[in-house]
Amino acid sequence: MLSRVLRKFNIFQFQTDLLEWYGQNKRDLPWRQDQNPYKVWVSEIMLQQTQVDTVIPYFYRFMEQFPTVYDLASADEQEVLKAWEGLGYYSRARNLQNAVREVVSEYNGKVPDQPKQLGELKGIGPYTRGAILSIAFNQPEPAVDGNVMRVLSRIFNIHDDISVGRTRKSFEEIVRAIISEEDPSSFNQALMELGALICTPKSPMCMFCPVMEHCEAYEEGIQEQLPVKAKKAKQKKKPYKSVIIKNEKGEVIIEKRPETGLLANLWQFPMIPGQIKTNEEAEQWLNKEYGLDITVDKKVGDVRHVFSHIIWEIDVYEAMTYQSVKEIKDQRLRMVSREEIDKFPFPVSHQKMMQYI
Ligand code: ADE
Repeated sequence: MLSRVLRKFNIFQFQTDLLEWYGQNKRDLPWRQDQNPYKVWVSEIMLQQTQVDTVIPYFYRFMEQFPTVYDLASADEQEVLKAWEGLGYYSRARNLQNAVREVVSEYNGKVPDQPKQLGELKGIGPYTRGAILSIAFNQPEPAVDGNVMRVLSRIFNIHDDISVGRTRKSFEEIVRAIISEEDPSSFNQALMELGALICTPKSPMCMFCPVMEHCEAYEEGIQEQLPVKAKKAKQKKKPYKSVIIKNEKGEVIIEKRPETGLLANLWQFPMIPGQIKTNEEAEQWLNKEYGLDITVDKKVGDVRHVFSHIIWEIDVYEAMTYQSVKEIKDQRLRMVSREEIDKFPFPVSHQKMMQYI
């Protein structure tokens, strides 16, 4: 593969064209203001599966709240989840904090610049490791994510399925061969920037591309057919009923989710499996599961939330309880006022339900 793709490829000219374009066109993003490895790390974790525009305000707030590894390491996990609220994929935040704690305890607070040590930290896979090593530490390491694979599959006319792990490895080999040794930080960021601004998934703007002369897919007119990517399975629909349970003071019952799995350690309004049909069955289910004594009233709305692998379809119900705080024994549950709710991290789906309180 490597010899095939590099046969007619002018590495030096490609680096020059790409880096010159990047120097003139790069966006002024908050994590590009310096090469602080902690900031680069946080930004790269936030940018996984999340758009730049969404990440920017979260990044500013996060850095204000946790300016150093020590601040993040000593924070309460719930505080970190609250800062991550709305970004999704919350295990990223939990892993990041665990890894930062290890940096403090094992590496004296210094983000390691050795590939092996860095790669062993929680949540740091090959992409993030390469991004930190190159962007923050100027090491000529590949940082190949989906965007970079799209760009490279077009330039080198590669038709391998990018959802297969092996394919990323072959792209990493290509990057090792073509990366600028003088400025690996800019080189990797320039590939990302090209993917974001020019070499977009649909209708790439080849006329503005600084490296169109190096692009085999453009030459053949097949840029829109690349990359090749297997269709992923459709998300399974999961029906639920959620109950907004209030007492006569207007306080509501919230529940902490389990410490593993989907949305681990976030808070929600209690959720009843969708197979439970009538209000009476719902009341019995809540009694058995949580020891709650409540009356389920009418449906007040519905919420749909698409995750990467499932879709929640939630019917929202109002309910009343006359139980006091003391009578609510289940450790997962809290009875809180409307103001107190805002201190807890909720997934977006359940934030949407707050209008029904
Ligand atoms: N996507 C992932 N990492 C990025 C970065 N450093 N800059 C812009 N977009 C990115």
